[in-house]
Amino acid sequence: MRLAAPFAAVLALSATLSACTGDLPEEDRIVAPILTSEQAFDEFTYARPTEARVTHVALDLVLDFEARKVDGTATLDVQAADGVNEIVLDSNGLVIGGITDGLGNALDFTIGESQGEKGEPITVQLGELTGPALQQVVITYASGSDAEALQWLDPEQTAGGEYPFVFSQGQAILNRSWIPTQDSPGIRQTWEARITAPKPLDVVMSGISRGEPEDVGENMRAFEFVMDNSVPPYLIALAAGDIDFAELGPRSGVWAEPAVLEEAAAELIDTEAMIDAAEEIYGPYQWGRYDMIVLPPSFPYGGMENPVMTFLTPTFIAGDRSNTGLIAHELAHSWSGNLVTYSSWRDGWLNEGVTSYFESRISEAVFGEARAEQEYALSYASLVEAVEENGQDNPNTAMRTPDGISPFDTVSEAIYDKGTVFLRTVETIVGREEFDEFMRGWFDRHAFQPATSEMFLAELREHLVGDDAELEEALMLDEWVYGTGLPENAVAPDPAAFAAVDEAAAAYAADGTLPMAGTWTGWTGAEQQRFLRELPETMSDEQLTRLNESLALSGNGNNEVLFLWLQMALRNEYEPAVPQAEEFLAEVGRNKFVAPLFRAMWDTGSWGRPLATRIYEATRGRYHSMTRGNVDEIVGYEAE
Ligand code: BES
Ligand code: ZN
Repeated sequence: MRLAAPFAAVLALSATLSACTGDLPEEDRIVAPILTSEQAFDEFTYARPTEARVTHVALDLVLDFEARKVDGTATLDVQAADGVNEIVLDSNGLVIGGITDGLGNALDFTIGESQGEKGEPITVQLGELTGPALQQVVITYASGSDAEALQWLDPEQTAGGEYPFVFSQGQAILNRSWIPTQDSPGIRQTWEARITAPKPLDVVMSGISRGEPEDVGENMRAFEFVMDNSVPPYLIALAAGDIDFAELGPRSGVWAEPAVLEEAAAELIDTEAMIDAAEEIYGPYQWGRYDMIVLPPSFPYGGMENPVMTFLTPTFIAGDRSNTGLIAHELAHSWSGNLVTYSSWRDGWLNEGVTSYFESRISEAVFGEARAEQEYALSYASLVEAVEENGQDNPNTAMRTPDGISPFDTVSEAIYDKGTVFLRTVETIVGREEFDEFMRGWFDRHAFQPATSEMFLAELREHLVGDDAELEEALMLDEWVYGTGLPENAVAPDPAAFAAVDEAAAAYAADGTLPMAGTWTGWTGAEQQRFLRELPETMSDEQLTRLNESLALSGNGNNEVLFLWLQMALRNEYEPAVPQAEEFLAEVGRNKFVAPLFRAMWDTGSWGRPLATRIYEATRGRYHSMTRGNVDEIVGYEAE
């Protein structure tokens, strides 16, 4: 859709003036850049941002732990093109009390029909102030029951066991269940929030904390936050609980429950070095502070890159920092994902693939080439495996994912691992120095803006390929992004990365020889994982018992290794592992572990199905909606 000319002109002007908005009168404070129709494409929003869009969100919410809802107002700054007198917002189950303009005049609105995970549109009739001038829309609302983004935890689900806890997870399209705004990654918004919570809980958000918490009555405190950089709305995040803070470095620190804080801080000791390394590669960190919160174990992801406040699972803590590639990953998103963001979910690789590549560069700088090459080899192996499983021609193995696929259902190896291998391949062909310079330019040119695969490829061609036909042919760019399977120029990992481990796995396969206990314990987390992944699919009870006795797998302190053991055991109907699996599933809600364990049980048939059903009955209520949705599908769960 084309913009009305005067609107486009005002926006173009404002884009050039945005650096000095402080000097402009309020009504000219238009900061949102123009979206091209390409950048405005998103199948999973109701918003029509080229007509009217949200530029700023101000939340004033109370956390109601008893009713398990947030309750209050959202004040949206809106820009509308000339002649447009309505704005469409996203919602999923929100309970709307009323909508007014900034002066309190009631505005008409309608709530459309709900369409599955897309939720329902709220269409608001704008008042007199339409046109390029800023307009405010004030929505009084509460989140619905079971708002997908929010997980409310009973005290029993926390380490302390005394206070409740709540956190949000917005990516991909869940934030519309607690924030009424245009929930599309291309529609960047600045935001601020005032969150009132019961004492003695602390609140953190993915924004800079403003001032000290303020007493509200006797039992409550209000916390204020602000995010002055425009962000895709999935990056607005909140957590509240009995949490404390430990400083890690001049611009980094960690929040966690008191019982977890010390070990969390110890595990995260390399954070400041990672920030320095990342800046060395792709330029200044643009967000001020880099803090993290280690959440209770029901957090559904390993990590989530919420700006200035990465959210983390506690299951990454191994005691030996072997899983801190996760931190490199979430930190890397401060460039790929948060600074330059895919404008629609079908370009998942632009966030996750670029980030996984950047992650390995940070790992290389901080931990050395050997560890980075092992991580690359694991990533490459899972890509090869996914392509084998899906088939070389399967559209789901394309980096640009097929239209219509839910952002939760894309094949992750096609995005994370294929993206990594793609960029490693480009780097190898054009040379590291040139490629780094290109990437720095990419982040500079599109800072705080949405991007697409097409833009990335066009700029690669403009800046790196030029009219070098031979280079164009060598890179196979379109095949990588739009094609399926594994392109033939893919740069394979150095076979030396896991030479010793692969030899040990081959010896086991040949005659059952196990690595010596000392060899095994001397291996890194990545090496142990590689070994377990290389073992035969089918194992007898005797083999599993011997394996566990020799390598003490069930006592392994690295959850990535423990998970592989439990998966292998359940897949092979190994009864002695059941109690531990049950305990693990009762505590941990991380989808990456939980879903495959239920899958392993389920796929055995008559052995595992009753077991999975029994365990799930007890644990389902403790999982986040995302994990729950996935396991529901695996075990065919239907709510009564
Ligand atoms: N941004 C993702 C998590 C995500 C992706 C949530 C898509 C919803 C939709 C996060 O950065 C991530 O990739 N987490 C991984 C970390 C791993 C790859 C190091 C995880 O949680 O396992
Ligand atoms: Zn990621």
